[in-house]
Amino acid sequence: MKRSDIVNDPSIGNKAEAFEAFDDIPTNPNLTRTIGDVINARYGRRDMLRGMLGVSATTALFGTSALIAPKQAQAAAHADSRYVFDEVTAGNDETHHVADGYDAQILLRWGDPIMADAPEFDVMNQTATAQLKQFGYNNDYVGFVPLNEDGTRGLLCVNHEYTNEEVMFPGLGRQDSDGFAGMTPELIDIEMAAHGGSVVEIAQDDAGKWSVVRDGKMNRRITPLDTAMALSGPAAGHKRLMTNDDPTGTKVIGTINNCAGGLTPWGTWLMAEENFHGYFWTDNVDAEGKPVIDSANPEAASYERYGVPGGWYAWGKTHDRWNIDREPNMPNKFGWVVEVDPMDPTSTPVKHTALGRFRHEGAETTVASDGKLVIYMGDDNRFDYQYKYVSNGTVSDDRAANTKLLEDGTLYVARFDEDGTVTWLPLVHGEGPLTAENGFNDQGDVMIDTRIAADLVGATPMDRPEDAQPRGDGTAYIMLTNNSRREEGNAANPRPQNNFGHIIEIKEDGGNHSATSGTWSILVKCGDPAIADVGAQWNPETSENGWFGSPDNCAIDANGRLWISTDQGSNWGKTGKSDGLYALETEGETRGTSKLFFRCPVGGEMCGPYFTDNGETLFLAVQHPGTDGTKDLAGFERASTFEDPATRWPDFDPAMPPRPSVVVVTKKGGGKIAV
Ligand code: FEO
Ligand code: CA
Repeated sequence: MKRSDIVNDPSIGNKAEAFEAFDDIPTNPNLTRTIGDVINARYGRRDMLRGMLGVSATTALFGTSALIAPKQAQAAAHADSRYVFDEVTAGNDETHHVADGYDAQILLRWGDPIMADAPEFDVMNQTATAQLKQFGYNNDYVGFVPLNEDGTRGLLCVNHEYTNEEVMFPGLGRQDSDGFAGMTPELIDIEMAAHGGSVVEIAQDDAGKWSVVRDGKMNRRITPLDTAMALSGPAAGHKRLMTNDDPTGTKVIGTINNCAGGLTPWGTWLMAEENFHGYFWTDNVDAEGKPVIDSANPEAASYERYGVPGGWYAWGKTHDRWNIDREPNMPNKFGWVVEVDPMDPTSTPVKHTALGRFRHEGAETTVASDGKLVIYMGDDNRFDYQYKYVSNGTVSDDRAANTKLLEDGTLYVARFDEDGTVTWLPLVHGEGPLTAENGFNDQGDVMIDTRIAADLVGATPMDRPEDAQPRGDGTAYIMLTNNSRREEGNAANPRPQNNFGHIIEIKEDGGNHSATSGTWSILVKCGDPAIADVGAQWNPETSENGWFGSPDNCAIDANGRLWISTDQGSNWGKTGKSDGLYALETEGETRGTSKLFFRCPVGGEMCGPYFTDNGETLFLAVQHPGTDGTKDLAGFERASTFEDPATRWPDFDPAMPPRPSVVVVTKKGGGKIAV
């Protein structure tokens, strides 16, 4: 499949579905390892790999110090907890549904003013200036940084992954299939202002209701339009990062396609740059609209492996920095993890190049039992890899020193062997094949071309690694969302045509997240267990409402329990279920049992989720409501537009299109969720 097939495919109705189709294009040339791997060789031996839960290292290290992320540390002690709630009935309609006994309140919607001087949202008269002071589009990652002891005030940190022009702007329709004919410089700047992230102060009243503190002193928008950022680590200052506007190779304007993310133990926010390739443009295209890259271009091989330029947006028509004809090195300034200090609205966000460059899905952190900072990160593309970063130093109470941990450490990529071991392969210049002979002149090259380095060291091509979630006991959960293009399985990705995805559980050696090896097992294979051909694997206690497809984001709650959110894209018609949030048992006899807690309105993807440390509040993000697969919605059966959407969630105002929104879930009358 190539770009011209996608933009001309009449079955692809909108931007979100086009993105999904682009995800379907593998760029990994190194797939021979998977073909001929022994299929399912180790099934039946899985039980022996289920390790015992270790003692929580983080708690031992820090006790009740001021560090912000103790919730993972609390995990092990309560890992056998069951989820107490009556599950939601699966299905798909124009609104959201939460388990009985819970309130699901709309907290923040696209366009909501988040500054004291922000104008009210006027959907028919949008401007970039207004959008820069309003909540952005397509909320994905949600994190909460408490500002007081009891966690009733805090900063919500939200990523705005991308924009859907067809339901965002009146009279425009889908643009990527018609050469962006209707896009104006003004609309392009609004799109840019709606990307990035938001920091928003929120507070809970005595009745338990959360609301936005509009004049919060730390409220902030971060965008690709105007937010100045710095680069740190091995690639900072590299000649391949030098651009016309920055001959130092250490600065960049903005961040894009921020999907999942994470919070560090010291309370900074990590924004993962995912499909950055889609934003780069060239005027040099063939008759089918396919980019023509001069083979003499020194970045040609890198462009190829990363899918640059994607041409998903027309920004490169009006801004040179998105046009590789004018700024050939600019793509090298994207595809990183960005650290933001939400407590300081004047701080300069930093792209940490030591964490590698790929289609970063998320960046969930933990503190290993030896005190090192560890970050699990997926590269969301078919046949790409699972990564882990381990700092050289250890986490302390010194905030400034902690940030340096993101500049000095080792990036590893995973090899999953059929004997049930996972080996973390270091990506270090001069080691193994990562030498000048193979095009790596320094560690900066290794980080800029992380994917090519990982190809060479023999990482295992996976079924689209999305979010990954460590737990304080040395366990990590890896979401493999799907891979319909896999022709033959390998041990860790056992199903050919894996339409529904699976989840891998890793137990690091010694319960230590910084270990360079561990064991792995498959927790569930997703899809309908009633259809034999699907090959699903669930605990038989799972009801017809409880099984799911396409795991995407995930969270560990204060009781150490795993929650999974799904993104089936336009494939939801294959399950008949909207995306949602599921509680998934990981321990004991109930392991592999799933229950549906919340479901999205039609066309929406379930993002977040984030539980507060007291376990009483859950933040969820409904991304792109009304867009994905609306042709499968009985009675609607067409692609949504601004004027004619499949749902007008959450306002249900005939003058308002659907709006991506953050939902806050609490128990009626208060108390811990699902306890
Ligand atoms: Fe933005 Fe891979 O989901
Ligand atoms: Ca995601």
